[in-house]
Amino acid sequence: MTDVLDTTRIRQDFPILAQPYQGKSLIYLDSAVSGLMPKAVNERIAHYQAFEHTNVHRGVSRLSQEATDRFEEARIKVRDLLNAPSAKQCIWTRGTTEAINLVAQSYGRQHIHEGDEILLSAMEHHSNIVPWQLLAEERGAKVRVLPMSESGELILEELDALLTSRTKILGVAQVSNVLGTINPVKEIIARAHAKGVPVLVDGAQAVPHMAVDVQDLDADFYVFSGHKLHGPTGIGVLYGKQEHLDSMPPWQGGGSMILSVSWEKTTFIGTPGKFEAGTPPIAQAIGLGSAIDYVRTLGYEAIAAHGQDLLAYATERVRTIEGLRIIGQAKHKASVLSFVMEGVHPHDVGSILDSEGVVVRAGHHCAQPVMKFFKIPATTRASFACFNDRSDVDALIKGLQTVKEIFG
Ligand SMILES: Cc1ncc(COP(=O)(O)O)c(C=O)c1O
Repeated sequence: MTDVLDTTRIRQDFPILAQPYQGKSLIYLDSAVSGLMPKAVNERIAHYQAFEHTNVHRGVSRLSQEATDRFEEARIKVRDLLNAPSAKQCIWTRGTTEAINLVAQSYGRQHIHEGDEILLSAMEHHSNIVPWQLLAEERGAKVRVLPMSESGELILEELDALLTSRTKILGVAQVSNVLGTINPVKEIIARAHAKGVPVLVDGAQAVPHMAVDVQDLDADFYVFSGHKLHGPTGIGVLYGKQEHLDSMPPWQGGGSMILSVSWEKTTFIGTPGKFEAGTPPIAQAIGLGSAIDYVRTLGYEAIAAHGQDLLAYATERVRTIEGLRIIGQAKHKASVLSFVMEGVHPHDVGSILDSEGVVVRAGHHCAQPVMKFFKIPATTRASFACFNDRSDVDALIKGLQTVKEIFG
């Protein structure tokens, strides 16, 4: 057992874990749906709201300048988290979904025309499918799919043939939210670039588990959500290469993003402001900055090692349950374990576990094409974070044994 993270101490950072749940203690195995927020992040947001709040990038008051400084400091934390060349390349959005919609509607409308192709991996979340389908419909373009194997790994042998002169963008998740697969995005990007195709990486499930370096990956766009990284909801990030961002038109208009406005003509400021019309989610950005501090203090090396240990232990233990099938058996996985149980609907598994105090996700996980591929309606999914330990996995196993008893 790894002792790289002191989970006893870490658990004290998450007050929600100390309160009774279903008459038991809460076992939270649902961090892939949303990460819990540590006290420090809550306190940082509350302090900002109570003592520092006003609007940003407006006015000459010291209060406004200080709020702006805190807001922009959070952006610098994002830059450092992703190793982006500049904070100007890190745009605040409401989350991963909005970041992908921004790229589809701005970069996509500019570059994708009739007969063009958008290549997506077979294991994308709906948020990396639907915005592209909407665009394809509007433009007369086509969405094509990079297939995966039964083990839940992308079939890279098919990649080069799918990258044609018509392909205008490739979208791929770094980590699958259903299967846990860690996709070799660096290799995928290199092969796409060899054919002149830019790549958008959905990092929603990657940033909670591994250090990300957008320059090393050479990603054209990289997106993630604050709430999966122990931050608040309502905030996310779009990173983009400067040359793309510079040539992309704004996707929303309003205050804060203009250089000048007249009835005849409006001109815009550069990035990131060009893409941040209106009052931004200030407290949420500052909260995400604090969550980044939290994660970086624990250290990605320790987080990744801890996650791998829990995943290996959980995988080994669930295999002892008769009639249970793991969905997603890739060689490289992050802390996500999806499964189905013979004769029991995943929703029933989830409800019984919940009554035992074990919170997991049951459903299609906003990835219906993945469900269709595996010919299942849904899965039950356990996902692990820094505060989980082996006793949480043991509680999951005990709950699954109860499911077996109930369903015979
Ligand atoms: C891989 C992946 N992409 C995108 C999303 C969408 O994130 P959000 O709802 O925060 O925009 C999720 C959320 O579950 C996800 O797991």
